[in-house]
Amino acid sequence: MEFDDRLISGGEQDTDGWQYSLRPRYLKEYIGQEQAKGNLEIFIKAAADRHEALDHCLLFGPPGLGKTTLANIIANELGVNIRVTSGPAIERQGDLAAILTNLGDNDVLFIDEIHRLSKTVEEILYSAMEDFALDIIIGKGPAARSMRLDLPHFTLIGATTRLGAIAAPLRDRFGVQLRLEFYKPEELKFIITRAAEILGVKIDDGGADEIARRSRGTPRIANRLLKRVRDFAQVLGQDTITRQLADEALARLEVDRAGLDRGDRRILTTIVKTFGGGPVGIETIAAAVSEESGTIEDVIEPYLMQLGMLQRTPRGRIATRETYRYLGIPYPEK
Ligand code: ADE
Repeated sequence: MEFDDRLISGGEQDTDGWQYSLRPRYLKEYIGQEQAKGNLEIFIKAAADRHEALDHCLLFGPPGLGKTTLANIIANELGVNIRVTSGPAIERQGDLAAILTNLGDNDVLFIDEIHRLSKTVEEILYSAMEDFALDIIIGKGPAARSMRLDLPHFTLIGATTRLGAIAAPLRDRFGVQLRLEFYKPEELKFIITRAAEILGVKIDDGGADEIARRSRGTPRIANRLLKRVRDFAQVLGQDTITRQLADEALARLEVDRAGLDRGDRRILTTIVKTFGGGPVGIETIAAAVSEESGTIEDVIEPYLMQLGMLQRTPRGRIATRETYRYLGIPYPEK
């Protein structure tokens, strides 16, 4: 399929209130993630042909790669309703029971950050996923009674940035498991071009290429940078985003030529300059830069590892030869 086929559905009002949603709504508009998308297409078609709910799906990968977007697309492609919530938002078993009993047959329930579900909620989710029934306890002490509630056949879509933080019994109940990967610059270029069209801003090939190469392989970042570069274009009175304009704007946003931002550079500099290149533990790095270790692990490190600028080892994080080259510091031959 040609990418050009997918530059559609721009501009109109979204049902969820976003005025100009940049999110694609159908698989054919969704750029990249070819492996996940190809498989999904088959599973969706098979379930639709059988008039059954799609098997439960687990989407995992770094933030901003389109897990929520894909969940919405799955519901659209299936022609069913989607209910969106997140792990930390479901505090009690009753919260989950209320959500599940309100679903229609074959509907999608999307739970973002599913690794943050509480243990008690997770336990009743097992029977909901497997038997489409809920066993809940009503009341307390001697008067407590157990009640079984039948549920509609639904599809649970769980999303997480941390596959490792999901207990095996939960993970194994997802019949479909899809890993989202960082996007290639060419794919991001298409995403940026499509977004620019929806936003009504002109961008040339060089401009799109420059933003794409500096977006950490992540559509959410690409769209954010596009909007900020558009601000510069507007205020400077330029009607088209060119490579030169993008370059100037990104420099002012402190996104460097490798696409790394201040947060990335801070981690790399700390490992190299403060801790002699490592190995250094994640908690030590977190304390040194006053950042939560979870944020460093989920948001910052995956892309640095992809670039070969960071290694995770059992003894801690290590800077690589590439890190030294990037920072312009001679590599200490050991
Ligand atoms: N916008 C954000 N992510 C996208 C994707 N994968 N395809 C098309 N547009 C997008």
